[in-house]
Amino acid sequence: MNAGESQRTPWILGVSGASGTPYAAAVLRALLEAGQSVDLVVSRASRLTLLDETGVSFRDAHWREDLRAWLSQGADGTPGAFADVDVSDVRHWSAGDLAAGPSSGSYPARGMLIVPASTACVAGVALGLSKDLLQRAAGVTLKERRPLVVALRETPLSGSTLRQLVALDDAGATVLPASPAFYAGARHLQHLVDFVAGRALDAVGVPHRLYRRWEGDLGAARSA
Ligand SMILES: Cc1cc2nc3c(=O)[nH]c(=O)nc-3n(C[C@H](O)[C@H](O)[C@H](O)COP(=O)(O)O)c2cc1C
Repeated sequence: MNAGESQRTPWILGVSGASGTPYAAAVLRALLEAGQSVDLVVSRASRLTLLDETGVSFRDAHWREDLRAWLSQGADGTPGAFADVDVSDVRHWSAGDLAAGPSSGSYPARGMLIVPASTACVAGVALGLSKDLLQRAAGVTLKERRPLVVALRETPLSGSTLRQLVALDDAGATVLPASPAFYAGARHLQHLVDFVAGRALDAVGVPHRLYRRWEGDLGAARSA
């Protein structure tokens, strides 16, 4: 690339095998709506949760088609709930491809969001295992001092997971449990999903309109 050419600097979105693939879809749609580039890494295990939760089989060879089907689906499974999303600024890397761009600190990236994050993923990143591209990219994000959001989905939590979450926090990550709130006037499943997605984007400073912010008026959400 010549000096002066603008460089694509994406957010890396890692989707691991915890329940909650609608959270990942909401984050991805909102990043694209905000004009951000996205590099997508979908773990092997998350293909099972995606199939279970949406009926979409995510195939490396047909990822664009599968991603469109996933993103168009509402959190309650309604097909076509979202208009066709333009995924032309999404780049997909296979989770087994440890030579992929995001496995190096010299690859330009703004930071990374792991949504949802499994306890296995939390352990792998906390211990620096790099067992796949998702974990390697997260380790790179930490060592490069870029923002890392870990949206864990599990309950209850074991002592070892709690200690690993503290290690991630110490290393500079934002630990953001996928725990929807009800104060923002949620009336549908999608609103609860969008709340968590919106808080993930808040953590990395990307503007969005995913949920209504608290303004100090008790009951305002119910009267709106
Ligand atoms: C249907 C299904 C739902 C799962 N939900 C969770 C979950 O909510 N949280 C979690 O930590 N693991 C969950 N798991 C287990 C993870 O998929 C498993 O630990 C896997 O090894 C994670 O690998 P990954 O981090 O490489 O994606 C679930 C597995 C399946 C099949």
